[in-house]
Amino acid sequence: MRCVVGLDVSTTATKALLLGDDGGILATGAVEYAVASPRPLWSEQDPDLWWSGAVGAIRSALDSAGVDGSDVAAVGLSGQMHGLVALDAAGEVLRPAILWNDQRTARECDEIREVVGADRLIAITGNDALPGFTAPKLLWVRRHEPDVWSRIAHVLVPKDLVRHRLTGELAIDRADGAGTLLFDLAARTWSREVVEALGIDPGWLPRSYEGPEVTGSISSGAAAATGLTPGTPVVAGGGDQASAAVGVGVLDPGVLSVSLGTSGVVFAATERPLIEPAGRLHAFCHAVPDRWHLMGVMLSAAGSLRWYRDTLAPGVGFDELVEEAAAVAPGADGLLFLPYLTGERTPHPDPLARGAFVGLTVRHTRGHLTRAVLEGVALGLRDSLELMRTIDLPDPDEARLTGGGSVSPLWCRIVADVLNLPVVTMETAEGAAHGAALLAQPAAGHASSIHEAVAGSVRTGPTIAPGPDAVGYGAVHERYRELYPALAPTFHAVAPDGG
Ligand code: XUL
Repeated sequence: MRCVVGLDVSTTATKALLLGDDGGILATGAVEYAVASPRPLWSEQDPDLWWSGAVGAIRSALDSAGVDGSDVAAVGLSGQMHGLVALDAAGEVLRPAILWNDQRTARECDEIREVVGADRLIAITGNDALPGFTAPKLLWVRRHEPDVWSRIAHVLVPKDLVRHRLTGELAIDRADGAGTLLFDLAARTWSREVVEALGIDPGWLPRSYEGPEVTGSISSGAAAATGLTPGTPVVAGGGDQASAAVGVGVLDPGVLSVSLGTSGVVFAATERPLIEPAGRLHAFCHAVPDRWHLMGVMLSAAGSLRWYRDTLAPGVGFDELVEEAAAVAPGADGLLFLPYLTGERTPHPDPLARGAFVGLTVRHTRGHLTRAVLEGVALGLRDSLELMRTIDLPDPDEARLTGGGSVSPLWCRIVADVLNLPVVTMETAEGAAHGAALLAQPAAGHASSIHEAVAGSVRTGPTIAPGPDAVGYGAVHERYRELYPALAPTFHAVAPDGG
């Protein structure tokens, strides 16, 4: 059967998905790898991991579907956003990539606000300077690694390093472009003003493309490595959040995409470049032409539950823990959990924000602690939703829920009640790789538009309507909101390395 490949170069694995021309998912393949944290606040990865991951994942997907590379009509790319990949003039990687969840660049963020002007920065890029974004990472390299800086010839984000190895082309999609903090959000291209103000050579920046546009084709070397056919078109695709939204059919306003992965995301598509005036929501281009999006990002969502289980209940299954939490009443008898275990982005852009259990008594059991973690994450998602409600955006009718946490019926119920929105589960929940494949379907001739590609492939599952507990969560959220401002001085009094 004719098909396309969607590739997601994520933080934990590179995943390939084969999508048949009828919109059915034929197979997936994945190769996992690790993140390095050589110092406190640092998060890095060797780009070769992504390339060997892409080769292995594509081969494994082709093998398990029994599909020949010559049946693949196009490839779409997605991946972890914001990471800095610096190449020299020969296209060689100059240092390990500095990833989206690296928190070392607080000083460079201040520098960017100062040089560009804090308000001007938000007016042009739609965003405040956050340590996760690409531009502050570049300025960090200039300050701390002048030898590397002097040899930079090209700057890419992770999936575009894989694109370079697949096609020889230097290119970026516009969702990832906006995530660099060097983009003019409304113009959907590099901002000359910001790039010049920061002293970055515009010649380092790749050409940008809309998600479904063809950026090049599989080279003979890449074909030999992956099993694909030379000349197969590769489309721009999109940063993982925009691609994942395409994968659940969120192309237009009215339906939110909410993800409970390691990080937690509330994503709304917009028909115009809307911004939150203080830059507390991310405002990026969507992977679909003529669409933008607003997004709240929590850094530890399902990641909080994993930490909690591994640290406080090692060896206990998630099902057992969640069952205990289900027996506890909403509100966990006054116990609150703040999920800022790796700092936070939305609504508190603070790399030094920290997690907390607040309100413990001897009457609390492990079930209460687990329930507080599940609720604390949902309350953080509500913070993002409430910020969106301050903007001129149609009120959403539903939230489509994906990510590892969405397999838990209790967590889905808590999210529906805390957001006070119908939560729609997904039958097709293959995330960003699915979205990247859908973005490749028009180039393959398998759909006439992204809307048609989505209609032919994305399937929703059961809906969970908000129940009677939704009312009580309003007061719980009020108490939760008061915690960060009260605790921030304590968080900030501790050095990042815990000393
Ligand atoms: C989005 C973000 C993360 C990464 C990793 O702004 O930083 O979601 O894309 O997946």
